[in-house]
Amino acid sequence: MSQAYNRILVTAALPYANGPVHIGHLAGCYLPSDIYVRFQRARKQDVKFICGTDEHGVPIAIRAMKEGVSPQEVVDKYHKIIGDSFAGMGISFDIFSRTTTDVHRQTSQAFFRKLYDDGLFEERESEQYFDEEKQTFLADRYIVGTCPICSNENAYGDQCEKCGSTLSPEQLINPRSALSNAVPVKKKTKHWYFPLNKYEDFLKEWIVEGKKDEWKSNVYGQCKSWLDSGLQPRAMTRDSNWGVPVPVEGADGKVLYVWFDAPIGYISATKELLPQSWDDYWKKEDTKLVHFIGKDNIVFHCIIFPAMLKAHGGYILPENVPANEFLNIEGDKVSTSRNWAVWIDEYLKDFPDMQDTLRYVLCANAPETKDNDFTWKDFQTRHNSELVDIFGNFINRAMVLMHKLCDGKVPAYHEAEKTDLDINIIKDIQAAKQKIEQSIEHYKFRDALFEVIDIARKGNKYLQEVAPWTLAKTPELKAENQAKIDNCLHIALQLTANLAIFANPFLPFTTKKICSMLTVVDKMLEWENAGRMDLLRKGYPLRAPELLFRKIDDAEIEAQKEKLQANAKQSVILAPEAPAEPAAPELKPVIEFDDFAKVELRVGTILQAEKVKKADKLLQLEVDLGFEKRTIVSGIALHYQPEEVIGQQVVVVVNLAPRKMRGIESAGMILMGEDAEGKLVFISPKNIVNSGVEVK
Ligand code: 2FM
Ligand code: ZN
Repeated sequence: MSQAYNRILVTAALPYANGPVHIGHLAGCYLPSDIYVRFQRARKQDVKFICGTDEHGVPIAIRAMKEGVSPQEVVDKYHKIIGDSFAGMGISFDIFSRTTTDVHRQTSQAFFRKLYDDGLFEERESEQYFDEEKQTFLADRYIVGTCPICSNENAYGDQCEKCGSTLSPEQLINPRSALSNAVPVKKKTKHWYFPLNKYEDFLKEWIVEGKKDEWKSNVYGQCKSWLDSGLQPRAMTRDSNWGVPVPVEGADGKVLYVWFDAPIGYISATKELLPQSWDDYWKKEDTKLVHFIGKDNIVFHCIIFPAMLKAHGGYILPENVPANEFLNIEGDKVSTSRNWAVWIDEYLKDFPDMQDTLRYVLCANAPETKDNDFTWKDFQTRHNSELVDIFGNFINRAMVLMHKLCDGKVPAYHEAEKTDLDINIIKDIQAAKQKIEQSIEHYKFRDALFEVIDIARKGNKYLQEVAPWTLAKTPELKAENQAKIDNCLHIALQLTANLAIFANPFLPFTTKKICSMLTVVDKMLEWENAGRMDLLRKGYPLRAPELLFRKIDDAEIEAQKEKLQANAKQSVILAPEAPAEPAAPELKPVIEFDDFAKVELRVGTILQAEKVKKADKLLQLEVDLGFEKRTIVSGIALHYQPEEVIGQQVVVVVNLAPRKMRGIESAGMILMGEDAEGKLVFISPKNIVNSGVEVK
């Protein structure tokens, strides 16, 4: 049931302040949230847009240690770079704060303290690895050693990337610290655990029963599979000297877990923005709270943070969490370590004044329901053939023709000359308004943008059909047809003004230029004006047309493609963590064809998938072989959520003797590749699998 809201609070995920932001960040969360907020502002809603940098956590502390600078220096540097990139792209936050402010320290400590005073946390003591050389406890990722399963010497304390096994640091043979190479020692430590399991029923009721039809299916699906596999208590503190100190006795050297403090950062930033009225936005039921995030943040925003808010009491919960999937680049996953990315700060240097082009392309191609691909060629095509040839061209024609045929003023509309073409285009403009607003309200930004271009396309068609230039071929003809010419350009100009309103949430820089050509004020951009055919008054003088976009030529695109490749190559040379050239693997003995022929391989389609209880590596699959359906248990759960594999086609070994795994009989085996980051992947053009990788 939809509820009436009096204010809207929009948050965009707080990016880690340990590197610049790239187009994947923008497409995933900042651009959709900005479009949504700009639209709500145009609707005169009371909306606040919150963001800032996430400045705590182990990776930042480690990066500082490696670079020999303080963590504060790292986050100061990137807070500025990230903030400038967002501002440069027109992302219109009401506040861009950070989690190292005093307000945030106090707010997150008070939050923790309330849960602590209510007796909610479980205190648990355990032994953890400690690096005596660096005087620091080691997060699991920062312990390396030999995998007990496949003997890989560089397995991590949480996972072996070679065989895919989930590990604990205790299982590693010859563990060593990734920071100093020293042999870590075990040291006793105490932590505070949030009993997430106690909130399972509440979360099930709220999400499974309440949000099924409202949330995007990718978001709902992930939540459901987390809830189905059962929730466990989670440690909300860490041993570190970088973070918000744990505000209780006996917690020296301990800080809040970064995923405890970061979402509270939204609250702190709201407080900073609105010291007097922040709690209206967080505590009143008539506020609509919307978290925009990327898919890797779903569990934190849909399960953990809401459980924390519920446990604290007094806070509202998010009405929606419209998470996007990931954006790949030129067919390959964005990777910061391989420098396979298009960085926003660099884009703004290479294409100054072309912010709207990137906004347009990223929205038109947004990964709203599945991972999508950004290519420079597509960037060029969309810009040249949609923004320039359709949108820009229509507005330019309307302005040029008006100057030429109507004395540079908005012509009158003569009702007596009204045609069916006029009636139809007016209807189309009004229908576009409905479609755009419906789509934005449902977080379907691609559909909404499509409507904007489509109405410009219809405008071009209208001009072509009326063809005022042929009506004015000679002075005599022009005099005779002036009423028809006036009507055509009157409508074209009203459509131009409407296009400014429609495009405003998506293309704010271009909208400004259109408003300046039409000499109208920002007030015209209010959404309630959309669909009106009297936005520009008769006789109103308009400025000379200004070219809204220039074309992008092939050389610019080639240069960007080369830059991407060159950066990636350079990073392989420079990055210390880049893997060494792989040694030739030890191959199994040659087999005769007859032996191979014993293996029966067939193509299967995955129909269903679910996690296997208490086995975090296993998925139970139902695979359709055409002639029958089989249950196959596969060790891919660390790499894929169940809903991601449904519909995938795989090669299946169908005559492998059945094997029981966790009580489930597995009738076959599916074959997978492995990408450079050790993820098991389906062999398809979307996934880059290095040649020579063993099929598993
Ligand atoms: O994934 C990330 O980049 C996190 N820094 C997002 C945090 S969102 C919020 F909780 F602060
Ligand atoms: Zn292994």
